Amino acid sequence: MEKTDKVYTGTLWAMKARGERICALTAYDYPTARILDEAGVDVVLVGDSLGNVVLGHETTLSVTMEDMVRHTEAVARGVKRALVVADMPFLSYQPSADEAVRNAGRLLQSGAQAVKLEGGRHYAATVERMVAAGIPVMGHLGYTPQSVHVFGSHVIQGRTEEEVSDLAENVRALQEAGCFSIVLECIPAGLAAGITRELRIPTIGIGAGPDCDGQVLVLHDMLGLTFGPKLKHARVYADVREQISRAVSSYVADVREGGFPRPEESFEG
Ligand code: KIV
Repeated sequence: MEKTDKVYTGTLWAMKARGERICALTAYDYPTARILDEAGVDVVLVGDSLGNVVLGHETTLSVTMEDMVRHTEAVARGVKRALVVADMPFLSYQPSADEAVRNAGRLLQSGAQAVKLEGGRHYAATVERMVAAGIPVMGHLGYTPQSVHVFGSHVIQGRTEEEVSDLAENVRALQEAGCFSIVLECIPAGLAAGITRELRIPTIGIGAGPDCDGQVLVLHDMLGLTFGPKLKHARVYADVREQISRAVSSYVADVREGGFPRPEESFEG
């Protein structure tokens, strides 16, 4: 595929059919969205991980529609080619299908081309309504961070027979309801491979092994910009925190010692 062609949901299906891996990353602002897009990322996800990695909350539960609208607008301004997917925040789709359609519609009006929501068969009717309204929906199964208080410290899903059959039922329900793709988070690699083979729609894995149709990471995790314990699945590609810290320390020292600004960085009368 020409790297300048706009990515649509159908592009992801074609990539699955050709066995081409889909590359997704999160972004929350204009400059990083633009860098990701220009580097060839296929899907830019405005994740509600915004709450953790940008806004400093413990969980994603405090993220609001206003947060998602503001950050989706910023990301959309930076993206030309990639598919922009915006997360539906907690309580924006759970109460009713009507609210889900209205809130997802606001995210599309903010520049997203699709939305993502967490949960399985209990949301099948909601997904059907959204898709009928012209809203492409990505599912999210396995570990779903908006259910943090249900999971507690039990992060890896799909290790018991009951969890495996629950997951199998949920992926089928989301596919039948019209989801165009499903994120699988923190499930065993073999299970994710089986689901990926079974589904017509592409799977995007995070902590779900190498055999999903695509991979997604939280940008701040892969850039070393998060403060919690290192996650096993999140490879750190650059230590940007260290680079920022070094740059800021140099600036502080220069200002304190009179080394900044230099005459060539100043204006004359
Ligand atoms: O919010 C997010 O960043 C996500 C990814 C972890 C898939 O949902």
